[in-house]
Amino acid sequence: MCGIVAYTGPNPAIPVLLNGLKRLEYRGYDSAGIAVEGADGISIRKSEGKVSELVGLLGEDEASLKSSTCGIAHTRWATHGPPTTVNAHPHAGGKNGIVLVHNGIIENHRALRTTLEGKGYVFVSETDTEVLAHLVDSLYAGDLLEAVTTALKEVHGTYGIACLSDQEPGVLLVARRGSPIVIGVGADETIVASDASAIIKHTRQAIYLDDNDIAKITGKEIDIRSLNNMPVSRKPAEIDWSADAAEKGGYEHYMLKEIFEQPEAIRNTLRGRMDPERGTALLSGLDLTPRELADLYRLLIVGCGTSMNAGLVGEYAMEDFAGVLAEVEQAAEFRYRNPIVGSRDLVIAISQSGETADTLAAVREAMDKGALVAGLVNVVGSTIARETGRGVYLHAGPEISVASTKAFTSQVSVLLMTALKFARSRRMSVEQGRQFVREIESIPSLVEQVLAKNDEIAKIAEKYVEQTSAFFIGRGYMYPVALEGALKLKEISYIHAEGYHAAELKHGPIALLEASVPVIALCNDGPGKDKTLGNVAECRARDSRVLGIVTEGDEEAMAAVDDYISVPACPLHIAVVPSTVALQLLSYHIARLRGCPIDQPRNLAKSVTVE
Ligand code: G6P
Repeated sequence: MCGIVAYTGPNPAIPVLLNGLKRLEYRGYDSAGIAVEGADGISIRKSEGKVSELVGLLGEDEASLKSSTCGIAHTRWATHGPPTTVNAHPHAGGKNGIVLVHNGIIENHRALRTTLEGKGYVFVSETDTEVLAHLVDSLYAGDLLEAVTTALKEVHGTYGIACLSDQEPGVLLVARRGSPIVIGVGADETIVASDASAIIKHTRQAIYLDDNDIAKITGKEIDIRSLNNMPVSRKPAEIDWSADAAEKGGYEHYMLKEIFEQPEAIRNTLRGRMDPERGTALLSGLDLTPRELADLYRLLIVGCGTSMNAGLVGEYAMEDFAGVLAEVEQAAEFRYRNPIVGSRDLVIAISQSGETADTLAAVREAMDKGALVAGLVNVVGSTIARETGRGVYLHAGPEISVASTKAFTSQVSVLLMTALKFARSRRMSVEQGRQFVREIESIPSLVEQVLAKNDEIAKIAEKYVEQTSAFFIGRGYMYPVALEGALKLKEISYIHAEGYHAAELKHGPIALLEASVPVIALCNDGPGKDKTLGNVAECRARDSRVLGIVTEGDEEAMAAVDDYISVPACPLHIAVVPSTVALQLLSYHIARLRGCPIDQPRNLAKSVTVE
């Protein structure tokens, strides 16, 4: 979940590397570093904190560095060793002859370290990455490709790496296993990154490395091999994200920009996938053969964080409309608890990044057990997308803010389409299907109506800024919304927040209610509303201030709460989306008023590629 950038070509490397690091900073921001080749070998500069600290380090006196045309850089999210300058990447092997940056975890680093120390290597950091640097150095005999290949065969775990040797100026070695590496192919230069957003300023031609690929890059020459030294052919793909799409576009934060992008993001998700005539959704990545369909016993949905919350909506919709047994499961649990899963199960892995370690592991577990496995992924070419081989891309565009917003609403949109597709292949009539199509197609405009209340929601947020704890409650389709609302609030505002089923409140959390603990209640008009309003009364009787999400025009619900945000009238399975958007805005404004670093909350990372 750290970020890598590397450059080799005719131009100065440092501006490309620093620009790339800034684009990747959302992946990790506790320290950063850069290594560039110069007349006197490889120079390394590192600093704690954000990329701006590193930029400050590269002062005017570094003219010799600034002419360098080959280098590597890294922004870190600490795993092994605290976020200090010494632990920051790049790390050097031997006497600085080998320098590398690394994403992932070398699992056998302790054993390798002991062996290398026995050979006289002295370690300065606590990182697993330094082990790899020394290991490559210990194997170097005049050929960097050979040394890195041999080293990678000895390591267990995951890596995306970029590596330089002072013996081979202008040569860049990159490799991946479990951590993404994208090679941007320029006219006369090559820019490598762990994420395409760092290269689109320079080129739209990208080669995505597969696991166990290793590439030797010299200027524009790219030689890709397997770890068995067999040549590998990987064709460049066109990146269709605009450079602009990855910028803030005038918004104060990426999160706000992405909240406001949702109508467009969802339209892109739906584009070409709705069939109003046949009343169904066209999701070819989820097409099952007639045999598979007839045999289908269960849909299992796996994911983490926000993606798992979206999965819960999918579970409800699948059972509700398609009559297919569905279960959502936390990906790490699925992986380790030896689940009962087989060829009659369809496992859908949901992941914005397509790189989350636990979700990927769950995919592999499900595949090993013979299940049908599909990905519901945003990042094109990501590992889960490629390993599942089938599935649905969200097409929501790059999501930079650590707190996920547009990915969630696009995921829910796809899951509703999935329920429709399966429902139509089972028992739903064409008329009902057409109605469902209309409902799904209305989602972008429902979201626009909520976005129009941004100022109103900002005002309401002022009343909830001082709290240190909050509960979110909901029932049925609104239960996942309560979970997601609480997750958003806690991750960006640092207010302790819990999402609960409204009925569960009485089984413990109610003991915590008092005037300083507000409750955000999903009181949308539909099945379960009356019961939720009863729970609201219980909260208010304990002095909690209640903010209700209510349906426009529902006077009863409005009168039952202290404050309310109204969302347009629509069926509850659709109301999930506009209601979530209202809670995204609420969390955003509370965090903004509290002065929190919204796009980069402490301790969090966008893509969790370690377990
Ligand atoms: C991290 C992010 C969350 C995200 C979760 C799953 O925790 O901060 O926003 O929901 O990972 O990520 P994925 O990319 O698999 O959806």
